[in-house]
Amino acid sequence: MKREINIGLIGSRFMGKAHSNAYRRVGEFFELPVTPVLHTICGRNEQDLKKTADSFGWKNMSTSWQHVVEDPDIEVIDICTPNYLHMPVAIAAANAGKKIICEKPIARNAQEAQDMVYAVAVADVVNMMIFNYRYVPAIRLIKSLIDEGKIGAIFHFNAVYYQDWLVDPHSPFVWRHNIEESGSGAHGDMNAHVVDLARFLIGEFESVCGLQKTFITHRPQPGKKEPAVVSTDDTCCFQAKFRNGALGSFVATRLAAGRKNFLRLEIFGSKGSVNFNLERLNEVEFFLHSNDKENGFRNILVTEQVHPYISNWWPPGHVIGWEHAFVHQFSDFFNSIGGRDANFPDFNDGLNCQFVLDAIQKSSDTNKWTALQNKTSFV
Ligand SMILES: NC(=O)c1ccc[n+]([C@@H]2O[C@H](COP(=O)([O-])OP(=O)(O)OC[C@H]3O[C@@H](n4cnc5c(N)ncnc54)[C@H](O)[C@@H]3O)[C@@H](O)[C@H]2O)c1
Repeated sequence: MKREINIGLIGSRFMGKAHSNAYRRVGEFFELPVTPVLHTICGRNEQDLKKTADSFGWKNMSTSWQHVVEDPDIEVIDICTPNYLHMPVAIAAANAGKKIICEKPIARNAQEAQDMVYAVAVADVVNMMIFNYRYVPAIRLIKSLIDEGKIGAIFHFNAVYYQDWLVDPHSPFVWRHNIEESGSGAHGDMNAHVVDLARFLIGEFESVCGLQKTFITHRPQPGKKEPAVVSTDDTCCFQAKFRNGALGSFVATRLAAGRKNFLRLEIFGSKGSVNFNLERLNEVEFFLHSNDKENGFRNILVTEQVHPYISNWWPPGHVIGWEHAFVHQFSDFFNSIGGRDANFPDFNDGLNCQFVLDAIQKSSDTNKWTALQNKTSFV
């Protein structure tokens, strides 16, 4: 019988459900050396908690993250809470000797992230950052095209991340609007994904120049007469220079009417280009220079058995979705802790991403370009 790995999941709403789904699916579709067990799920709201626990078959429920972290039967603590809790939960989990999974962004700022990196290093515990978009097979194809030199030297890495869930001024105040709970708005939430993808695909940032704005400054609070003041950005744009000489241009906004989860990458090199759109995540647009009159962008459907992770799912053309990327990332995690050769982004990646996010924040606060430190390990 395979070794059972008891999971304690902190957070039972959006990401709580996405991770619960992935824990269930991963052992069904991937042959793993260990068996993940949905041991305990934790949340603040008992009604929400019970619903998620029942639907996904969690064995136990708790409203105290401290109790879950202290439970000796639990081996992995998975953090899916608002960002202000990432640091205290991660440090307590590291001190208790748990393996830790943490949602992006790693924390509210790099100081907190550094304390987390230090805690997991001292405790010597396995730690993984959820950067799920790295686990979209089309992103892996783009990475291999870049790494194999197919598009040549990179000139431009351009990304827009558009959502519209806050375009309605009556959309209520939630933790994402409170800087104390979130650390930032669209910036940390959406740019964490994009900055990580840029680091993953083309390498480290050298300097950044940011611009943030809160267009809708007050939002209604359920059950209260007075609206609450929004203390986070709803839009953040930035320019970047990369260490490899490439230039980057980025926009993240929650006010892009009509766009739902539109993350578009356009990467231009000396030999060709690759484009990607998360809302069409099975596809890669690929262009190579040539003088052929029929030359142009071609659309690659990334659902062949040769594409990473795909052979565990369906026949070619039977497309996968947003939730599959979490399953892929968890398969690497469980393969690795089961002794197989697999790797994944860790807290150091979370910290490096956070350094870039903090530099963008500083730049937009000071109206000046901000340089990144020239190092990637901080313990
Ligand atoms: N990887 C992705 O694509 C992605 C997408 C969305 C959110 N996220 C990240 O996931 C994290 C959670 O976001 P979400 O959208 O799931 O938020 P959410 O508001 O839907 O859920 C937050 C959960 O945390 C729980 N919680 C809050 N305070 C708690 C406490 N003191 N003790 C125990 N539980 C507590 C709540 O009860 C709730 O279940 C954030 O860090 C966010 O940035 C990642």
